[in-house]
Amino acid sequence: MTLVRGTLVDTPDDPFSGGTPRVEADGGLLVRAGGIVDRGPFAELRRRHGGEAVVDLSGGLVLPGFVDTHVHFPQVRVIGGLGMPLLDWLERCALPEEARLADPGYARGVARDFVSGLAQAGTTTALVFGSHFAPAVDALFAEAARVGLRVTSGLVVSDRLLRDELLSTPQRAHEEGLALAGRWHGVGRNRYAVTPRFSLSCADAMLDSCRSLLADVPGAWFTSHVNENDAEIAAVAALFDGCSYLETYDRHGLIGRRSVLAHNVHPGDDELKLLADRDATVAHCPTSNAALGSGLFPLKRHLSAGVRVALGSDVGAGTGFSLLKEGLQAYFVQQLLGVEGVHLTAGHLLHLATSAGAEALGLGDQVGDLGIGKRFDAVWLRPPPGSTLDVALRSAAGPEDALAKAFALGSPADIAGVWVEGQPIGARPGE
Ligand code: GUN
Ligand code: ZN
Repeated sequence: MTLVRGTLVDTPDDPFSGGTPRVEADGGLLVRAGGIVDRGPFAELRRRHGGEAVVDLSGGLVLPGFVDTHVHFPQVRVIGGLGMPLLDWLERCALPEEARLADPGYARGVARDFVSGLAQAGTTTALVFGSHFAPAVDALFAEAARVGLRVTSGLVVSDRLLRDELLSTPQRAHEEGLALAGRWHGVGRNRYAVTPRFSLSCADAMLDSCRSLLADVPGAWFTSHVNENDAEIAAVAALFDGCSYLETYDRHGLIGRRSVLAHNVHPGDDELKLLADRDATVAHCPTSNAALGSGLFPLKRHLSAGVRVALGSDVGAGTGFSLLKEGLQAYFVQQLLGVEGVHLTAGHLLHLATSAGAEALGLGDQVGDLGIGKRFDAVWLRPPPGSTLDVALRSAAGPEDALAKAFALGSPADIAGVWVEGQPIGARPGE
């Protein structure tokens, strides 16, 4: 057993429902077999469990591990392709790189870069868009298992409008998906996600094969893109006889509690209602939406409709793995929306980056906060001495103010430690 000491901040009570962050300024967590079995002021825990070894994380903040609900494994090497809208960026930047993952050796290198990028940013759980190539998806799951991250991912499938190398058929997509799920779903911390790229690149027969695969893999997740960009939305409407973007998935039985749709920057009211009725989640990807000029996310409309929302980095259109940066960008967008925006506090941002993501992925009983009964998935944010964030944290009025400063100034360089289920994970390759 281990007694962890530090300034603990988490969000077990949803700030969008009136909750406030839970703060333990000099707190203690007793960790046994990877799980949190006691918590409280450090002095009290010390008295109750005097003989236990202390891991001292004082200075900075101890936060729940971040949960990224939308991130693309094959795009880590193309982060930063600025200046293009979605469809141009896909053609010129993302898809040529995704085609390179046909080479399993190349894919293994990308998997190492990708998983270490997540870990360095403090992301302990992620819903990951995989590759169009099954051996590359194997490489991702293997690397996630080696490092210890909680990854839900799958084969990305498409049968039209992409470069030829990335296309498959409904039958092959089903066969390869089933084989991958057989190797990885429920193995360690890995789970399978059925992943049509977007309905623009999937005809009805392909979406139908996704439905079969979901039925054939109990407990599998579903993820795709929706309502990201005006030109994309118009093209989808033309291909599907004008039905709504969300309906292109829903009419194939793909939208439910285990569905996570990325973006939804331009939803109809009917689509928001359907998402809420189905209890599905929207992954809000704010740096990607800004980088590709996709638009300003209507968070208020999502909240009013009762739609679950969590955060995604959307690397490589997103500008990095840090959910601190995504939180800050989410805040900026709501500020810029004026009366249409939601006033977000640092507590909201932490919730979006941790507990909301855990709930979105059905893992809220295991991770997302630092309460008793949860696994110890955690991040120690402790900036280098003398850095601007260090100065800011030292002059913070209290832990909640420190949290706001962490979102304003924090980056992967400030993540001093990351744990999954009580085990430190090597943030850099080889560590
Ligand atoms: N829509 C279909 N594919 C993609 C992708 O790779 N990135 C983003 N942002 N949107 C997409
Ligand atoms: Zn995406």
